[in-house]
Amino acid sequence: MTTQGSADLVIVANRLPVDRVTLSDGSRRWRRSPGGLVSALEPVMRSNDGAWIGWTGVADDETDPFVDDGLWLVPVPLSAGEIEEFYEGFSNATLWPLYHDVVAKPEFHREWWDAYVRVNRRFAEKAAEIAAKDAMVWVHDYQLQLVPQMLRELRPDLRIGFFLHIPFPPTELFGQMPWRRQILEGLLGADVVGFQLSGAAQNFVRLVRQRVGHKTHRDMVYLPDGRTVQAMAFPISIDTDGFEELARSESVTERAAQIRSALGDPELVLLGIDRLDYTKGIYPRLRAWSELVADGDFSVKDSVFVQVATPSRERVEQYRILRDDIDRLVGRINGDLGRLGSPAIAYMHSSFPRHEMAALYRAADIMVVTPFRDGMNLVAKEYVACRYDNDGALVLSEFAGAANELRQAWLINPYDINGMKDAIVEAARAEPKEITRRMKAMRKQVRENDVASWANRFLEELEAARPSHSKKLRPVR
Ligand code: F6P
Repeated sequence: MTTQGSADLVIVANRLPVDRVTLSDGSRRWRRSPGGLVSALEPVMRSNDGAWIGWTGVADDETDPFVDDGLWLVPVPLSAGEIEEFYEGFSNATLWPLYHDVVAKPEFHREWWDAYVRVNRRFAEKAAEIAAKDAMVWVHDYQLQLVPQMLRELRPDLRIGFFLHIPFPPTELFGQMPWRRQILEGLLGADVVGFQLSGAAQNFVRLVRQRVGHKTHRDMVYLPDGRTVQAMAFPISIDTDGFEELARSESVTERAAQIRSALGDPELVLLGIDRLDYTKGIYPRLRAWSELVADGDFSVKDSVFVQVATPSRERVEQYRILRDDIDRLVGRINGDLGRLGSPAIAYMHSSFPRHEMAALYRAADIMVVTPFRDGMNLVAKEYVACRYDNDGALVLSEFAGAANELRQAWLINPYDINGMKDAIVEAARAEPKEITRRMKAMRKQVRENDVASWANRFLEELEAARPSHSKKLRPVR
């Protein structure tokens, strides 16, 4: 057992919620990442001497723990070799494709697995070092599935939660993983294992029964030592009020008008915003659009598809191949169908701040979200949060976790290009009354279920998980 530290709540995630930026005068500082997760957890972390453990995103960065804007941040270093083997390799070329329906072929390499074990142990040791007695530790995502068990061995006093942000695969696909039993046992170190959807929680419980042999009943796993593990769904969400407020601001309203005018004031603007990832279904979406233009359903004179692809994991081969494929496809479509000043697709390979994203959401008549498989898809929820006039249509893949909640979207199967085309036509031709009816219902859903309620629900479940523990989180001050 390691000696304990002083944090009553510890978040363990692959990345810290800050990026290092260099200012124009050459000085360097930390900038808070825009994600909703940190803003949701910030109040409860401040009230509970919370700490966040993660990687800075830079190789061999030996930065000491530091406080940024009231948050205690604890860097875990990764060497250049570990970035290759643990992050780009096992996390993003083995687990990522395997957990996303094998949309790309997962690679299994023993050296990558060794690096995964080594880095997970480093995170677990850091958490063991800084957590106070009986503290709560919340471990996040597929990069750190071994941490719960490693941490429990070091610190049996802790309450440990784990949340998987991406899908959990069906039992048949998970079976391919050479280290399947170790991963299941790693997760079983937690008291509560959270997933985006209840189907994923059921997959996990079934696998534990089949592959590890533990007794299970509904969402509970019974371990031989008497401990129980609960597997449940906690669909993640966004900072709904924050997005709506931003969308209503004068500067976003002005920027949205500028965007439409820069596009030539078309009647119809369609929008896709994705990390440039092969799970996102960007290729079939753009093909569907190009066919609609080629067939004469839409004309480039009065409609345009804006596609933003945020650079991601650019050193992983599959991502490089995808970038070339999309570049070629967009070039071909615009070459064939575009006119001077009127491309069929306005394509941007860049990432934008929240303000610009909100302006794009405001500028778009139809948001098109077509992943082959996606844990949740927060872009779909952000679009809904920004449509405060109850206008705007959402075309959404039924394979995104968000489809479970946003039932009033035009739901599509991204493998069915004709079905996708029909849905886009229907959404474009829908009566305003119909659009409003659908958007109102979706807005109610994202207003009532924001990221703060998601985080509170998880932490409440974790508090309740071990009734013998007297320690409770201090309420938000
Ligand atoms: O969706 C899973 C996820 O890991 C997110 O948490 C993260 O924002 C995104 O993918 C990109 O991840 P990274 O750049 O850390 O590989």
